Amino acid sequence: MKPMGPLPPEFAAQTGVLRVGGRDLEALVAEAGTTPFFFYDLGIAAARVARFRAAFPGIDLHYAMKANPHPAVVAGMATMVDGLDVASGGEMDLALRSKPAGAISFAGPGKRDAELGAAIAAGVTLNVESEGETERALAIAARIGVAPLLAVRVNPDMELRGSGMKMGGRPSPFGVDEARVPALVRSIIDAGADWRGLHVYAGSQALDAQAIVDTQAETLALAGRIAQAVGVTPRLVNLGGGFGIPYFAGDTPPDIERVGRSLREATDNAAHSLTGTRFAIELGRWLVAEAGVYLTRVVDRKESRGETFLVVDGGLHHQLAASGNFGTVVRRNYPVAVAHRMGEPASETVSVVGCLCTPLDRLADRVALPRADAGDVIVIFLAGAYGATASPMAFLGHPPAAEIVLPPS
Ligand SMILES: Cc1ncc(COP(=O)(O)O)c(C=O)c1O
Repeated sequence: MKPMGPLPPEFAAQTGVLRVGGRDLEALVAEAGTTPFFFYDLGIAAARVARFRAAFPGIDLHYAMKANPHPAVVAGMATMVDGLDVASGGEMDLALRSKPAGAISFAGPGKRDAELGAAIAAGVTLNVESEGETERALAIAARIGVAPLLAVRVNPDMELRGSGMKMGGRPSPFGVDEARVPALVRSIIDAGADWRGLHVYAGSQALDAQAIVDTQAETLALAGRIAQAVGVTPRLVNLGGGFGIPYFAGDTPPDIERVGRSLREATDNAAHSLTGTRFAIELGRWLVAEAGVYLTRVVDRKESRGETFLVVDGGLHHQLAASGNFGTVVRRNYPVAVAHRMGEPASETVSVVGCLCTPLDRLADRVALPRADAGDVIVIFLAGAYGATASPMAFLGHPPAAEIVLPPS
């Protein structure tokens, strides 16, 4: 038997039939009309937003759309956050349906000229990732005849310690090396562009509050140094995010109230060069991962060489991350449950495998569950972020998963 991660707080105490967003299993399946499907309860995301607001007064909250770009999720999140961070022209188009251009920033390497032009014309802030991209943006803006809104993404000298994905402190396609940023900012200002500030993203999926505190403090110091070297106060410093969620056995969530207290102290004592600067934190998974479940029906229950397999109608083509093939080094089990037996003691060890013809398609590996048979529904938690759009949906020609969004009330 292998352990699984903890159920999100909203589900941990449930008994009997699964309930999400006030609906029971039968109602959820009836609403979807089919299995497998994702259900996103933005009421849960709203609770995370409220917690952020209480812990980080005065700090802007941005939603990183890459975590879940479903149009109804974006529309719902847009009502609750101050800004949307996008990573492609497609995400930008979607974001513009829900937020004014002034509340949207566009980061990511390899922005094409058409994307730069569309962002500049719309008034979206470009977080430029290199000197070359800056030159292209300035040239395109000159052709269009508008002053572009440019922030500089910094590749910091430090990384976010303990994060699942480190994005700083190393050679990187993301951002401009710290030492070259002041010169780039000066060239942006000298070109007549509107310099919006700095963007520093040092890593993702950090569970250690102290690591986040240290990174934020270093980011503030770095922004202060750059502002001083440039001699202009940045309007906004985006401090990145990286708040992680517990996916696996032994994971514990970061104490974000503690992070908030430390950040308040750090901003109170920030360099003079940052007087009047606003600060933002951009979050994806911490806001939406726990709001989503993926429900998939058992098609076949089979035994092989002493092991039991529940073969379901979903798989890694919808929920790649749960199969351990989305950026994890060691495969570990997401929290899963038999959807009509919540809270029941386990009675057997089974593997939940998807319907794809590949051994990679294992959604839960030798986990302890109450008994499930063909026709029963398995729920895979933490499906609200990096699920449907981060999975190879077209692989092997199975139909896409339905997605249902319950807006925040
Ligand atoms: C620039 C940037 N912002 C935000 C995020 C969102 O991270 P998370 O969903 O872990 O909060 C990422 C993740 O890769 C990122 O690269």
